[in-house]
Amino acid sequence: MKITSLLSKVQARDNYLVIDFSTGEQSRFHWIWLRDNCLCQKCHHPQTLERVVDTWSLDTQIVSEDYKIADSGTNLQLTWPDGHLSEYSSVWLRSHSYDTERVSDGLPDPTPWSVNSLKSRPSISAQSVLGSDQGTMTFIRQLREFGFSIVTDLSPDEGMVEELAKRIGFLRETHFGVDFTVESKPDPNNVAYTAIELKAHTDLPNLEMPPGIQFLHCLQFDAEGGESILVDGFAVAEQLKKENPTAFDNLTRIPVLYRFLDKEWDLRWHSPAIRLDHNGQLEEIRYHTALTGALDTSFDDMEALYNGLRAFTEILRRPEYELKFKLMPGEVMVFQNRRVLHGRAAFDPQSGPRKLRGCYVDCDQAWSKFRVLQGLNKL
Ligand SMILES: [Fe+2]
Repeated sequence: MKITSLLSKVQARDNYLVIDFSTGEQSRFHWIWLRDNCLCQKCHHPQTLERVVDTWSLDTQIVSEDYKIADSGTNLQLTWPDGHLSEYSSVWLRSHSYDTERVSDGLPDPTPWSVNSLKSRPSISAQSVLGSDQGTMTFIRQLREFGFSIVTDLSPDEGMVEELAKRIGFLRETHFGVDFTVESKPDPNNVAYTAIELKAHTDLPNLEMPPGIQFLHCLQFDAEGGESILVDGFAVAEQLKKENPTAFDNLTRIPVLYRFLDKEWDLRWHSPAIRLDHNGQLEEIRYHTALTGALDTSFDDMEALYNGLRAFTEILRRPEYELKFKLMPGEVMVFQNRRVLHGRAAFDPQSGPRKLRGCYVDCDQAWSKFRVLQGLNKL
């Protein structure tokens, strides 16, 4: 890896070390954290790369006896009271600094979008995703940045979408099966399997962990109507935070009951509609009015929950956030299900067929694939 940041100065404090980098940044690292993250082969297994040092038997007040910058600023060397030696590269320290900045997860940041800010639909050919690591990386980058990608030129046959999905993760089985066909069915157990309008929603909010990425492959489309809709839930949530911070806070706090019910299943889960990650960044949207159960939050929160969901919905349905297009046979709409909401206009099943084939994978595997292809899977 190219060295972009050398160590220029280190100063010891009671319970931490202050490091000045040549790039001008300064970071504090606790002594206990430095000892716990010693990268030597006694502390991290050389094959499995797992931590073998017993963190919980370390002295919580540990302080290094000697510290010095070595190798022209590329390494930090510490000597601990028991004589144990630790060495850390400047690049490693820089990239793991937890002082004032977020530690990178190795992925591009999401770019929330509206119809106007999106210059064109992110898209890539199936051949590129299936046939090259570069194509796979571009595909995952689009999914991460924009929350969706349109994969083109995938032969409109059953089984093809599963092959595409397996390129970035394990197929995720749900109560709809490992894969499913979306078309107007005679005995539907879900509004997706009718011809009526489907308002923008996230799938399966009623599960403990709704699938992270959904694939919908268009096999046939000769019907009138049935245009697809995608809405960036992160952009909607950001706008809600600006316009109505109280509603935003309430939606991150008050749990919603989501429920799927048929002859075989009664799947229920509570979750706030908007969830933030450990850095306070948007992580997840769960929203599906048809799968919202009889709300059961406390009496004192009930009106705040209705008001919050109504405010979110009002922004969600603004034309500036609704990306509408007709998914053509051979195209696959791939989107982060817990970020980008999807829907479709009503269609006339008498006018011709509309048949989509779908499946799910989870984000953790796709993000892992991206890091591995980038060569980031090192200690
Ligand atoms: Fe859906």
